[in-house]
Amino acid sequence: MIVNQSSIILALGLTAAVATPVRRQLPPSTRVQMHSSCSASQKQTLNKALDDMNKLTIHATKRILDKTYEDPVYQTYFGNGESATVVGYYGILTAGKVFFSDVDNKCSQPGWAGHWRGEVAPLETVICPLSFNTTARKPLSALCQDGDRFSQHKTNYFLSSDLMHRLFHVPLINPEERVDHYASNYTEVTALAAADGDKAEHNQDSYMYFALDAYARDDVNPPNGCV
Ligand SMILES: *[C@@H]1O[C@H](CO)[C@@H](O)[C@H](O)[C@H]1NC(C)=O
Ligand SMILES: *[C@@H]1O[C@H](CO)[C@@H](O)[C@H](O)[C@H]1NC(C)=O
Repeated sequence: MIVNQSSIILALGLTAAVATPVRRQLPPSTRVQMHSSCSASQKQTLNKALDDMNKLTIHATKRILDKTYEDPVYQTYFGNGESATVVGYYGILTAGKVFFSDVDNKCSQPGWAGHWRGEVAPLETVICPLSFNTTARKPLSALCQDGDRFSQHKTNYFLSSDLMHRLFHVPLINPEERVDHYASNYTEVTALAAADGDKAEHNQDSYMYFALDAYARDDVNPPNGCV
Protein backbone atom coordinates (compact mmCIF):
# COMPACT_ATOMS: atom_id res chain seq x y z
CA MET A 1 0.00 0.00 0.00
CA ILE A 2 1.23 3.48 -0.80
CA VAL A 3 1.45 5.50 2.37
CA ASN A 4 0.66 9.17 2.19
CA GLN A 5 1.62 10.88 5.41
CA SER A 6 -0.59 13.86 4.75
CA SER A 7 -3.90 12.14 5.11
CA ILE A 8 -5.53 10.04 7.73
CA ILE A 9 -7.82 7.07 7.89
CA LEU A 10 -10.80 6.80 10.14
CA ALA A 11 -11.56 3.15 10.64
CA LEU A 12 -14.77 2.07 12.24
CA GLY A 13 -14.90 -0.80 14.63
CA LEU A 14 -12.13 -3.27 15.07
CA THR A 15 -9.37 -3.94 12.62
CA ALA A 16 -10.68 -7.41 11.84
CA ALA A 17 -11.67 -8.18 8.25
CA VAL A 18 -15.25 -7.28 7.44
CA ALA A 19 -17.67 -10.09 6.93
CA THR A 20 -20.92 -9.66 5.04
CA PRO A 21 -23.36 -8.75 6.44
CA VAL A 22 -21.62 -6.21 8.63
CA ARG A 23 -22.36 -6.69 12.30
CA ARG A 24 -24.23 -3.93 14.05
CA GLN A 25 -22.98 -4.25 17.61
CA LEU A 26 -21.12 -1.07 18.39
CA PRO A 27 -19.31 0.40 21.37
CA PRO A 28 -21.24 3.00 23.38
CA SER A 29 -19.63 6.21 22.12
CA THR A 30 -17.48 7.45 19.29
CA ARG A 31 -13.85 7.13 20.23
CA VAL A 32 -10.74 8.06 18.36
CA GLN A 33 -7.54 6.11 18.24
CA MET A 34 -4.88 8.08 16.46
CA HIS A 35 -2.37 6.43 14.24
CA SER A 36 1.22 7.56 14.66
CA SER A 37 1.12 9.25 11.25
CA CYS A 38 -1.36 11.75 12.63
CA SER A 39 0.22 15.01 13.73
CA ALA A 40 -0.59 16.51 17.12
CA SER A 41 -2.59 19.33 15.58
CA GLN A 42 -4.50 17.01 13.24
CA LYS A 43 -5.25 14.83 16.21
CA GLN A 44 -6.54 17.77 18.20
CA THR A 45 -8.68 19.07 15.32
CA LEU A 46 -10.25 15.69 14.64
CA ASN A 47 -10.85 14.89 18.29
CA LYS A 48 -12.61 18.20 18.72
CA ALA A 49 -14.66 17.75 15.55
CA LEU A 50 -15.68 14.23 16.59
CA ASP A 51 -16.70 15.54 20.02
CA ASP A 52 -18.73 18.20 18.27
CA MET A 53 -20.29 15.64 15.93
CA ASN A 54 -21.34 13.63 18.98
CA LYS A 55 -22.74 16.78 20.55
CA LEU A 56 -24.80 17.44 17.41
CA THR A 57 -26.14 13.93 17.04
CA ILE A 58 -26.93 13.52 20.72
CA HIS A 59 -28.68 16.86 20.80
CA ALA A 60 -30.68 16.07 17.66
CA THR A 61 -31.81 12.80 19.24
CA LYS A 62 -32.82 14.50 22.48
CA ARG A 63 -34.82 17.11 20.61
CA ILE A 64 -36.72 14.47 18.65
CA LEU A 65 -37.45 12.41 21.76
CA ASP A 66 -38.56 15.54 23.56
CA LYS A 67 -40.66 17.22 20.88
CA THR A 68 -41.49 14.20 18.70
CA TYR A 69 -42.34 14.29 15.00
CA GLU A 70 -44.78 17.10 15.72
CA ASP A 71 -41.87 19.51 16.09
CA PRO A 72 -42.07 21.94 13.15
CA VAL A 73 -38.26 21.97 12.99
CA TYR A 74 -38.24 18.18 12.64
CA GLN A 75 -40.82 18.44 9.89
CA THR A 76 -38.77 21.09 8.09
CA TYR A 77 -36.05 18.50 7.48
CA PHE A 78 -37.81 15.15 7.56
CA GLY A 79 -41.40 15.93 6.60
CA ASN A 80 -43.57 12.95 7.49
CA GLY A 81 -40.49 10.69 7.67
CA GLU A 82 -40.57 8.26 10.57
CA SER A 83 -38.87 9.70 13.65
CA ALA A 84 -37.78 6.29 14.99
CA THR A 85 -35.71 5.77 11.86
CA VAL A 86 -34.09 9.17 12.22
CA VAL A 87 -33.33 8.61 15.90
CA GLY A 88 -31.88 5.22 14.98
CA TYR A 89 -29.42 6.64 12.47
CA TYR A 90 -28.32 9.40 14.83
CA GLY A 91 -27.77 6.71 17.45
CA ILE A 92 -25.63 4.64 15.12
CA LEU A 93 -23.56 7.69 14.23
CA THR A 94 -22.68 8.28 17.88
CA ALA A 95 -21.89 4.65 18.47
CA GLY A 96 -18.89 4.26 16.21
CA LYS A 97 -15.36 3.58 17.23
CA VAL A 98 -12.88 5.44 15.06
CA PHE A 99 -9.18 5.07 14.73
CA PHE A 100 -6.67 6.81 12.56
CA SER A 101 -4.10 5.16 10.41
CA ASP A 102 -2.07 5.62 7.27
CA VAL A 103 -3.63 6.19 3.93
CA ASP A 104 -4.22 5.66 0.21
CA ASN A 105 -3.32 8.16 -2.39
CA LYS A 106 -6.47 9.90 -3.58
CA CYS A 107 -6.44 13.17 -1.66
CA SER A 108 -4.73 15.08 -4.45
CA GLN A 109 -8.01 15.12 -6.37
CA PRO A 110 -9.39 18.68 -6.29
CA GLY A 111 -11.99 19.28 -3.62
CA TRP A 112 -11.54 15.90 -1.92
CA ALA A 113 -11.75 16.27 1.85
CA GLY A 114 -11.93 12.55 2.42
CA HIS A 115 -13.26 9.33 0.97
CA TRP A 116 -14.48 5.92 1.92
CA ARG A 117 -11.89 3.32 0.99
CA GLY A 118 -14.42 1.04 -0.61
CA GLU A 119 -13.98 -2.68 -1.01
CA VAL A 120 -10.26 -2.45 -0.24
CA ALA A 121 -10.96 -1.58 3.40
CA PRO A 122 -14.69 -1.17 3.97
CA LEU A 123 -14.36 -0.09 7.62
CA GLU A 124 -12.07 2.77 6.77
CA THR A 125 -12.55 6.31 5.64
CA VAL A 126 -9.72 8.63 4.70
CA ILE A 127 -9.54 12.18 5.98
CA CYS A 128 -7.66 14.39 3.51
CA PRO A 129 -5.74 17.60 4.23
CA LEU A 130 -8.61 19.75 2.95
CA SER A 131 -10.48 18.75 6.13
CA PHE A 132 -7.82 20.59 8.12
CA ASN A 133 -7.99 23.70 5.95
CA THR A 134 -9.62 26.31 8.16
CA THR A 135 -10.93 28.24 5.17
CA ALA A 136 -12.73 25.19 3.83
CA ARG A 137 -13.86 23.63 7.14
CA LYS A 138 -15.05 25.51 10.23
CA PRO A 139 -15.30 24.40 13.83
CA LEU A 140 -18.77 24.12 15.32
CA SER A 141 -18.01 27.20 17.42
CA ALA A 142 -18.49 29.20 14.19
CA LEU A 143 -22.19 28.27 14.11
CA CYS A 144 -24.33 31.46 14.16
CA GLN A 145 -21.22 33.55 14.75
CA ASP A 146 -21.42 37.21 13.65
CA GLY A 147 -24.83 36.76 12.10
CA ASP A 148 -23.74 33.81 9.99
CA ARG A 149 -26.58 31.61 8.73
CA PHE A 150 -25.89 27.90 8.41
CA SER A 151 -28.56 27.53 5.72
CA GLN A 152 -26.30 29.50 3.38
CA HIS A 153 -23.61 26.85 3.56
CA LYS A 154 -23.33 23.28 2.45
CA THR A 155 -23.20 20.89 5.38
CA ASN A 156 -19.48 20.33 4.80
CA TYR A 157 -18.85 23.90 5.95
CA PHE A 158 -18.45 22.53 9.47
CA LEU A 159 -15.95 19.73 9.95
CA SER A 160 -18.17 18.17 12.61
CA SER A 161 -21.13 17.82 10.26
CA ASP A 162 -18.85 16.76 7.41
CA LEU A 163 -17.65 13.88 9.61
CA MET A 164 -21.23 12.57 9.66
CA HIS A 165 -20.93 12.34 5.89
CA ARG A 166 -17.70 10.35 6.22
CA LEU A 167 -19.29 7.97 8.69
CA PHE A 168 -22.48 7.47 6.69
CA HIS A 169 -20.39 5.96 3.90
CA VAL A 170 -18.97 3.31 6.21
CA PRO A 171 -21.07 0.11 6.05
CA LEU A 172 -20.88 -0.44 9.79
CA ILE A 173 -22.84 2.78 10.25
CA ASN A 174 -25.12 2.53 7.23
CA PRO A 175 -25.20 -1.22 6.56
CA GLU A 176 -28.08 -1.31 4.12
CA GLU A 177 -26.68 1.75 2.30
CA ARG A 178 -30.13 3.28 2.31
CA VAL A 179 -28.93 6.63 3.57
CA ASP A 180 -27.64 8.37 0.48
CA HIS A 181 -27.49 11.72 -1.28
CA TYR A 182 -30.86 12.79 -2.63
CA ALA A 183 -30.67 16.52 -1.86
CA SER A 184 -27.72 18.56 -0.70
CA ASN A 185 -28.17 22.29 -0.16
CA TYR A 186 -30.64 23.80 2.28
CA THR A 187 -33.25 24.66 -0.35
CA GLU A 188 -33.18 21.16 -1.80
CA VAL A 189 -33.24 19.49 1.60
CA THR A 190 -36.29 21.38 2.84
CA ALA A 191 -38.07 20.84 -0.49
CA LEU A 192 -37.36 17.11 -0.23
CA ALA A 193 -38.86 17.01 3.28
CA ALA A 194 -42.05 18.62 2.02
CA ALA A 195 -42.27 16.32 -0.98
CA ASP A 196 -41.09 12.93 0.28
CA GLY A 197 -40.53 12.16 3.97
CA ASP A 198 -39.29 8.66 3.24
CA LYS A 199 -36.51 10.00 1.01
CA ALA A 200 -35.75 12.77 3.51
CA GLU A 201 -35.19 10.29 6.33
CA HIS A 202 -32.66 8.56 4.07
CA ASN A 203 -30.92 11.70 2.94
CA GLN A 204 -27.55 12.43 4.53
CA ASP A 205 -27.70 16.21 4.46
CA SER A 206 -31.13 16.23 6.13
CA TYR A 207 -29.45 14.72 9.20
CA MET A 208 -26.72 17.33 9.20
CA TYR A 209 -28.96 20.35 8.68
CA PHE A 210 -31.48 19.24 11.29
CA ALA A 211 -28.71 18.61 13.83
CA LEU A 212 -27.18 22.02 13.16
CA ASP A 213 -30.55 23.76 13.35
CA ALA A 214 -31.62 22.00 16.55
CA TYR A 215 -28.32 22.80 18.23
CA ALA A 216 -28.42 26.42 17.06
CA ARG A 217 -31.97 26.96 18.34
CA ASP A 218 -31.57 25.19 21.66
CA ASP A 219 -27.99 25.91 22.64
CA VAL A 220 -26.22 28.53 20.56
CA ASN A 221 -28.74 31.23 19.75
CA PRO A 222 -32.12 30.48 21.35
CA PRO A 223 -34.90 30.53 20.47
CA ASN A 224 -34.60 31.01 16.72
CA GLY A 225 -31.15 29.70 15.89
CA CYS A 226 -29.65 31.04 12.67
CA VAL A 227 -31.35 29.54 9.62
C1 LIG B 1 -8.01 26.07 1.60
O1 LIG B 1 -9.33 26.11 1.10
C2 LIG B 1 -9.61 27.27 0.37
C3 LIG B 1 -11.10 27.29 0.08
O2 LIG B 1 -11.57 26.05 -0.35
C4 LIG B 1 -8.73 27.29 -0.87
O3 LIG B 1 -9.00 28.43 -1.63
C5 LIG B 1 -7.27 27.26 -0.45
O4 LIG B 1 -6.46 27.16 -1.58
C6 LIG B 1 -7.01 26.08 0.49
N1 LIG B 1 -5.65 26.19 1.02
C7 LIG B 1 -4.79 25.19 0.95
C8 LIG B 1 -3.47 25.44 1.58
O5 LIG B 1 -5.05 24.14 0.39
C1 LIG C 1 -29.20 24.38 -4.53
O1 LIG C 1 -28.95 23.44 -5.54
C2 LIG C 1 -29.76 23.65 -6.68
C3 LIG C 1 -29.58 22.47 -7.61
O2 LIG C 1 -28.23 22.16 -7.78
C4 LIG C 1 -29.40 24.97 -7.31
O3 LIG C 1 -30.20 25.21 -8.45
C5 LIG C 1 -29.61 26.08 -6.29
O4 LIG C 1 -29.16 27.31 -6.80
C6 LIG C 1 -28.87 25.78 -5.01
N1 LIG C 1 -29.26 26.75 -4.02
C7 LIG C 1 -28.39 27.31 -3.19
C8 LIG C 1 -28.97 28.27 -2.19
O5 LIG C 1 -27.20 27.10 -3.26
